[in-house]
Amino acid sequence: MPAANPVQELESLRTQLDAWNYQYHVLDQPTVPDAEYDRVMQRLLALEAAHPELLTADSPSQRVGSRAIAQFKQVTHDMPMLSLENAFSAQDMENFNRRLLERLGDVTEPLEFACEPKLDGIAVSLLYRAGVLERGATRGDGATGEDITHNVRTIRSIPLRLRGEGFPDLLEVRGEIYMPKAGFEQLNQRAREQGEKEFVNPRNAAAGSLRQLDARITDQRPLEMCCYSVGLVEGGTLPVRHAQVLDCLSSWGMKINADSATVLGIKACDAYYESLAERRNSLSYDIDGIVFKVNEMDLQQRLGFVSRAPRWAIARKFPAQEELTTLLDVEFQVGRTGAITPVARLKPVFVGGVTVSNATLHNSDEVDRLGVQIGDTVIVRRAGDVIPQIVSVVPDRRPKDARPVSFPTHCPVCESVVEREEGEAALRCMGGLVCAAQQKAAIKHFAARRALDIDGLGDKLVEQLVDESLVENVAGLYSLTKDQLLLLERMGEKSAENLMSALQTSKQTSLARFVFALGVREVGEATALNLARHFGSWKAIAAASEDQLLEVADVGPVVADHLRQFFDSASSMGVVLKLIDAGVNWPDLPVAPENNLPLAGETWVVTGKLETLSRDQAKACLQAQGAKVAGSVSAKTTCLVAGPGAGSKLTKAEDLGVKVIDESSLIRLLKKCGVQI
Ligand code: IVH
Repeated sequence: MPAANPVQELESLRTQLDAWNYQYHVLDQPTVPDAEYDRVMQRLLALEAAHPELLTADSPSQRVGSRAIAQFKQVTHDMPMLSLENAFSAQDMENFNRRLLERLGDVTEPLEFACEPKLDGIAVSLLYRAGVLERGATRGDGATGEDITHNVRTIRSIPLRLRGEGFPDLLEVRGEIYMPKAGFEQLNQRAREQGEKEFVNPRNAAAGSLRQLDARITDQRPLEMCCYSVGLVEGGTLPVRHAQVLDCLSSWGMKINADSATVLGIKACDAYYESLAERRNSLSYDIDGIVFKVNEMDLQQRLGFVSRAPRWAIARKFPAQEELTTLLDVEFQVGRTGAITPVARLKPVFVGGVTVSNATLHNSDEVDRLGVQIGDTVIVRRAGDVIPQIVSVVPDRRPKDARPVSFPTHCPVCESVVEREEGEAALRCMGGLVCAAQQKAAIKHFAARRALDIDGLGDKLVEQLVDESLVENVAGLYSLTKDQLLLLERMGEKSAENLMSALQTSKQTSLARFVFALGVREVGEATALNLARHFGSWKAIAAASEDQLLEVADVGPVVADHLRQFFDSASSMGVVLKLIDAGVNWPDLPVAPENNLPLAGETWVVTGKLETLSRDQAKACLQAQGAKVAGSVSAKTTCLVAGPGAGSKLTKAEDLGVKVIDESSLIRLLKKCGVQI
């Protein structure tokens, strides 16, 4: 209901917009659709245009300046912005605790600690006078920083005026501005699409975004701020415990870290560290450690500072996920389908908690994108269980004798020609099953647990069998004799017997496993299952036309083409027939039309990070139950599976009223459908 008086209406519009903004950006709980927010913002803009004399700097319409500033002004921090001492082990934490107790003398164990994830971003100071944001500045060297007020104003999780009441007249809030992982990925995705340079990591992206003279650029960057302490306070008092101070900041509309905790004693700090280390990769933001602070402010005061760090706090660092090392060489691996993958051989380096000496370079596009040469100093990243990646090259450190990566024209294993198929990033060895590398990979795939599950036929043994020319293709496995096996190095009587019996056992299988085991390009477990359910017998699959194949859930033209090529090839069919001759068998299935599948006719979308399943596994499981899995949310979407870090897809689903579930609900549903997870 518009108020009669513009002063009142302006105030009510601003309060409404501030509240929605706070719910969305600080609480992460959107309450109104964008369209409604936009309508109220338009009304505010119109009213302010009609009454320019009533415009205020803290109005939600005033977040983004319309001109770039000329240069950054220097800001002197009246209270220096300190850094933290580091700890790297539980022992370091013990020592920290002992020093605290010794210095305090009269206090008894256990001390109370505030535990906070150490966000990897840019430390910033915000100055509020009478509750209105007056200045934002970087930490700089701790004594002098840069005035970035114009940029911090664009960050929606920073209030332009404080909410509630009881805040001091002058309040300096300190915290970290960072870029959440999902926003970083989207920013880089956009950069890639527009052929622009990508940011190396979220921290660099945040730093670069704050270094802009033009706030309109910063406004496009997905930045957030999380507050972790106060600096100057005048004309007011704050609570006696650090965690309570943060709660106060929270009540005044600042964002604080929801994963923080207060604990008793140093052992509990270690437990907190371990539990966060485990969750590190599934958090929506990057952290490089945990900050532990003595919670009682009067104890903090008594402990004081040494040089540039407080005695009452410490940062226990996680093992770095990025390190520098040297690219010693690039070798080429040949995969099951002949795809040739460049593999970086690195000077061994300790990163992400393990020693890394290899990293994948994916394909020639990736090598071009990185501009990497042999001899270069590179940044290697290993986060969680993800395979190590080369993130970027340090160009200043390129030695004179660096040499470009040259891709082979012939297969490094069988010397057949190498081709790059149109529209594909990968180079491929054209040797097919003549290539020992492809033979080995095909046999390993066939014997794998999820395929024919041949117990005891490990990678090493497969390599020996091929190298000794005992086996050329998967059908050859079933004509092996115990005597032949005994000729192999390190093969004893018992192992040979076990393998012979495992080979026998493996003959009893299912059609889906058999189709998957054949290793047709792009035919994974889920597609194999769909094919088996749709056609019921291998003969029906082999005889199906491309059009008939396209009727199967999750089979597109590319997969249909690979299947046809496979079954049209005399040598592949020869192998299939030999396998069946050797006794590989399964019960034929009653044909299950797709629309009998539990999720037939539904369209699902998966976003954010999943913890138990990989995103691909989740997709494959959904497809196997008859669902279509789409890349974006629309009104047609049946359900969105959202993991941590879900971004715009989640917002859109909520706007459209699409059902949203988390990973554990997905797993429950899949189990109900009979999927084993
Ligand atoms: S407290 C006097 N708390 O870590 C206390 N710092 O190495 C100084 N940081 O410059 C900082 N998260 O950029 C504190 N929860 C947190 C933090 C945090 C990240 C950063 C901050 C600071 C650096 C110190």
